[in-house]
Amino acid sequence: MCGIVGYTGCSSAQSPLLEGLKRLEYRGYDSAGMSVLGKDGILHTLKAVGKVRKLEELASQTPLEGACGIAHTRWATHGAPSEKNAHPHLDGASRIAVVHNGIIENYRDLRAELEAEGETFRSDTDSEVLPRLIAKYYSDDPVRAVEEALQRVRGTFGVCVLFQDHPGLLIAARSGSPVILGIGKGFNMVASDVCALLANSRDVIYLNDGDLAVVTPEDAEIRTLANVPVNREISRIPKEETGSGKGKYEHFMLKEIFEQPESIGNTIRGRIIPEDGNAKLSGLNLSPRELAEISRIVIAGCGSSLHSGLIGEYYFEEIAGIPAEVEQAAEFRYRNPIIEPNTLVIPISQSGETADTLAATREAMQKGATVAAISNVVGSTIARECGRGIYLHAGPEISVASTKAFTCQVTALWLLALRLGRNRRLSNELGRQSCAELQRLPELIQRVLNQYDHVAALAKKFSGMNDFFFIGRGFLYPVALEGALKLKEVSYVHAEGYHAAELKHGPISLLGENVPVIALANCIPGQEKLLGNMQECRARKSPVIAVATEGDPSVEAFTEDIIRVPETSRYAAPLVTVVALQMFAYCFAGERGCEIDQPRNLAKSVTVE
Ligand code: AGP
Repeated sequence: MCGIVGYTGCSSAQSPLLEGLKRLEYRGYDSAGMSVLGKDGILHTLKAVGKVRKLEELASQTPLEGACGIAHTRWATHGAPSEKNAHPHLDGASRIAVVHNGIIENYRDLRAELEAEGETFRSDTDSEVLPRLIAKYYSDDPVRAVEEALQRVRGTFGVCVLFQDHPGLLIAARSGSPVILGIGKGFNMVASDVCALLANSRDVIYLNDGDLAVVTPEDAEIRTLANVPVNREISRIPKEETGSGKGKYEHFMLKEIFEQPESIGNTIRGRIIPEDGNAKLSGLNLSPRELAEISRIVIAGCGSSLHSGLIGEYYFEEIAGIPAEVEQAAEFRYRNPIIEPNTLVIPISQSGETADTLAATREAMQKGATVAAISNVVGSTIARECGRGIYLHAGPEISVASTKAFTCQVTALWLLALRLGRNRRLSNELGRQSCAELQRLPELIQRVLNQYDHVAALAKKFSGMNDFFFIGRGFLYPVALEGALKLKEVSYVHAEGYHAAELKHGPISLLGENVPVIALANCIPGQEKLLGNMQECRARKSPVIAVATEGDPSVEAFTEDIIRVPETSRYAAPLVTVVALQMFAYCFAGERGCEIDQPRNLAKSVTVE
């Protein structure tokens, strides 16, 4: 979603700002802009609809010369993607520039008030009230003006403000939308995502909600919005978290699909105790007694993270014998969920910044639950606020379509179920079996990846189709949902995931020769029933693509279009199966010439509700 970069130093601001914006591109956006305080003492602003490269072209024709500036990528919420709606927004006199992430909920009232005072707005955005409010409260103290303006605001914000009258000064603040400072030698930066800082600095400070930072090239002083000084630690981002380019791959999505043997290896590294048939998850910070007291598990997430949670539900019930349920994070707090003292709530979020999942996390904490997050981004808001959980260590996931984070989430849930199970009645022997299979996952996944050319040929064969159903049972039912989500995300075709038995209760009316069904037939138990469901689809003339276990001839009666995956237990089946579906979605989107890493309308991290 929207991205913020700010730079103050002694060399040109333009290049770190553009570099930061490029690193934020993966999050999804539709316009970009940048303001720099010029050597002439005037704020200069450039904006472009579309890609950052357009802004870069503008900047190469009319360079913004100056050592302090702010930049933004906008994902439209209030007002269409257009130059006038792109950030930075300026006050009426063009002396204050603001970039903003989040939503100002009371912007209509504030705008009406400001218009009544004579202000004429230039954009349709909620964000434009900010520079105008700041101007209203500004006489000579910029920090006070920002504080006063932000006190009037209801909603969420991550902001960075640049004043024409104060060279070298950036003021940043956050409430519900991440802001991170990058600490350098002779310069400092501000960003909404650590990625935007990493080309220049690995030393970062995460602002907390309610923090305001006064940033100059030499200093970053942090206080609360109520003007109380606070100390926030500098964290050093490990080299392996800084990511690299696409390497030999055409797209990040493909790179990340192929990274899965390694990323899953990283999720399990150091966490398996084979001789005990157990897992060690020190980030949970829960004693054996506290673990034993957990009597119910509630998982909350969105999109792919919701789907991994649905697989987790099976793990917790089967392996650990603990009742589990999965909630759409967006509904969690509005449903007023019942949280008992021994409920463990698990928010799952790759980014750790998804607004709905964050709101669910806070609701659960406020209700007194034990909350342990599963997150990939170290230092993300959800991870920090929970203070306990499991980091995936999948490395940066850049493609909007989640692949490696999903499989690492599933792996982490399996590890957690094992840990909880061994705390209860799961035998050493069954625990050892899980450990052995977890350790084999990289090899099993690699065997699926080796099918890439075959999957690509299938994707080509079906590339003219516009409607797909994905069906599965048991552990593979959530995988059907995830397979359909992947396909629609990157290739824009209609795809629905269904429980195989549910097809008969309505959607079967849509089947026909132009509606292929992808049947996840490598499930044991339930395979016989799934074969029956495939038969039903064939009877309605739907072409069937089957995912089936290597060497299993049973699906051959229904189709010749088969993707083979290794034989596994039902616990590992979701992991091998989803990798096949990820490859199918990627190849299918490629056949249709779609923008794979940044699909239209989508954002990597959805920071508005
Ligand atoms: C996955 O491919 C999607 N891009 C999306 O559904 C994503 O999983 C969802 O927005 C949740 O993101 P999070 O894991 O960062 O919270």
